[in-house]
Amino acid sequence: MYLGPQKNKVSSEQEIDIKQFVYEKFSTLLNFPSEEGTCKKMIRLSHLKPEWAEYAVVFGHRADSKHAQIVQDERKYLAHLQENNYPVVEVIGKEFVVALDQTGNERFGMVMRYMPGIFIEAKTVPPLKIYIIAALLGIEYIRPQEAWLALNKKRLLDDIEEKIKNPILFAKLQTGAKTLEHNFDTLIAKFEQDQEMVVDLQMIISSEGTLTIIDPLDVVKQNQDECLSILPDAPKPNDDLLRFIKNTRNWLKLAKQTCSKICSAQHYADLSSLLNLDVEPLVFSTRSDPRGHSRISQIKSQSQSQAPSPTTKKLFF
Ligand SMILES: Nc1ncnc2c1ncn2[C@@H]1O[C@H](COP(=O)(O)OP(=O)(O)OP(=O)(O)O)[C@@H](O)[C@H]1O
Ligand SMILES: [Mg+2]
Repeated sequence: MYLGPQKNKVSSEQEIDIKQFVYEKFSTLLNFPSEEGTCKKMIRLSHLKPEWAEYAVVFGHRADSKHAQIVQDERKYLAHLQENNYPVVEVIGKEFVVALDQTGNERFGMVMRYMPGIFIEAKTVPPLKIYIIAALLGIEYIRPQEAWLALNKKRLLDDIEEKIKNPILFAKLQTGAKTLEHNFDTLIAKFEQDQEMVVDLQMIISSEGTLTIIDPLDVVKQNQDECLSILPDAPKPNDDLLRFIKNTRNWLKLAKQTCSKICSAQHYADLSSLLNLDVEPLVFSTRSDPRGHSRISQIKSQSQSQAPSPTTKKLFF
């Protein structure tokens, strides 16, 4: 089962070419627009080489051991998800040194498939419904932060309204929602069957309704009454993370329900409850702060120093 888009395999010669190109042109690449998270940046290679438009380089903010570890662990989680047939972004080869800083410290990164679409993440609930609709309508200018939504709500709602009034686009929205509902359903069932969960689940939704997991913070497995990372050296999930994992399951159900509601709408006006942000007031979730920095990033920096959690209850499924 692979729920994301199918792509051709990259040969090892091409992999070497791309990595060498990134290393040689890294300082030039830094001048182009990037997508920034709390720990990493993503820059498309299309800025310098249009024929490599389907690739991007994702790398740590700094050349230190903490950022190297984050990239190395992430690549292992992505490989695990790939091997286990989850719909996950493809990493081209392994992580590598993208640049050295002035003192010779190594900065790590990965070449990945660039996934077009809208980014959604389990740590934010209020924008979920509107972002799913916007993704399926191919509206690309959305930014993930709730603060962005607060500032751009009117423009986005006007744009969505104009599109869903067009019967052709409304039909396309419903077709995409049917595919996406199936993909969420399959993903929920697979996590349950494998007794696994991605911590800090983030994904990119395409206008066709495919979903692709990116940037896993951890992948945890439920073994009898213990919830442990699939990487033996990773810190044991603390209570905050365990709560977050449980919320992620509800978030996935909500995402699936949203798709189902889109499918069952007879008329564009039936979607108004999904778009009515006043029904579900726009508030900064307790896991995000108004600057768009997430609670999870705090957890990320704390989790290395946390003592193992004494609670080992079965928390999901
Ligand atoms: N393969 C990809 N295709 C398209 N966009 C991507 C890809 N990888 C990352 N991005 C974009 O870049 C952003 C930052 O990347 P990423 O989430 O890996 O960084 P991070 O610093 O680990 O984030 P976080 O804030 O979640 O800790 C993502 O939110 C997403 O918008
Ligand atoms: Mg991220």
